[in-house]
Amino acid sequence: MTEIKSPRTACGLFHRGIEVDFRQSEGHPCATMTDATSPTAAQAAALRGEPKRVFVRDLFDRLAPRYDRLNLVISLGQTTLWRRAALSDLDLRSGQRVLDVGCGTGWTGRFLRDRCPGLEIEGLDLSPGMIAEAQRRDPQGRYFEGDAAAIARPEASYDLVTTIYTSRNFPDPDRALSELVRVLRPGGRLVLLDTFPPGGPAPWRAFHAFWLRHAVPALVRPFADPNAFAYLAESILAHLPAAEMARRLEGLGCETEVRAYSLGAAYRILATKSRIVSRADPRAGGPTSL
Ligand SMILES: C[S@@+](CC[C@H](N)C(=O)[O-])C[C@H]1O[C@@H](n2cnc3c(N)ncnc32)[C@H](O)[C@@H]1O
Repeated sequence: MTEIKSPRTACGLFHRGIEVDFRQSEGHPCATMTDATSPTAAQAAALRGEPKRVFVRDLFDRLAPRYDRLNLVISLGQTTLWRRAALSDLDLRSGQRVLDVGCGTGWTGRFLRDRCPGLEIEGLDLSPGMIAEAQRRDPQGRYFEGDAAAIARPEASYDLVTTIYTSRNFPDPDRALSELVRVLRPGGRLVLLDTFPPGGPAPWRAFHAFWLRHAVPALVRPFADPNAFAYLAESILAHLPAAEMARRLEGLGCETEVRAYSLGAAYRILATKSRIVSRADPRAGGPTSL
């Protein structure tokens, strides 16, 4: 553990008084970030539980004011195209309740409200910096701080839950998936859009990994901490495959449909919660409903 002695370190990422000095080289096991070692970006991506929660919150707090612009540059606008594609065929109706988990600056909520003005939309995020940014852009919007793994809402609260480019940051992926399904009403839908370890032909996979690991940190260097983006790259490459995420959602009683964008650079998983709730399922909680 290194005490912060100046307001900014080489990489600029801090953890509540602990300086986190990312290294691009191997050799720093970082299970808890409480020892004298420093994580590589890959080690940070592999964290779980509280250390990951703290890490992710601090990272996005720092990125919040510039997040949308940087995202546009590093993805060459692709992430916005994928978001639009993933959210455009949902046939939403006025009065439906929507929760956007990992809402960031609130792009998804604003997009959905423009398409269907009568929606009741809430945004949830781990990062107070992101919540403040969303609220600044959308003073009428409803945003609250929280963790996908413990959503402070009763079950069956929403018709639609969205989680966009967030699932690979979940500190507790299984608990988070279980919560996303819990707060959906029976028959409600979850839209999970994310970038996963690239699929498709080998040259495309190699290009994608090169782009993430080398081109992206170089591109952002003039504007932001390249080490933060090294983490984002590693979090994509370390993510569960989309098919595995879909399988886990099926295990929670959902029907799933998986759609690939740009040769598998991103996937949308559309999961529909079963209308029949099994009494034997301890996650279900409520009565059987059709
Ligand atoms: C890559 S950003 C994406 C933001 C937004 N969904 C978008 O499409 O631009 C990921 C967001 O998820 C939030 N996040 C990560 N893990 C979370 C968790 N466990 N619970 C809630 N929010 C989380 C981060 O704070 C960050 O704002």
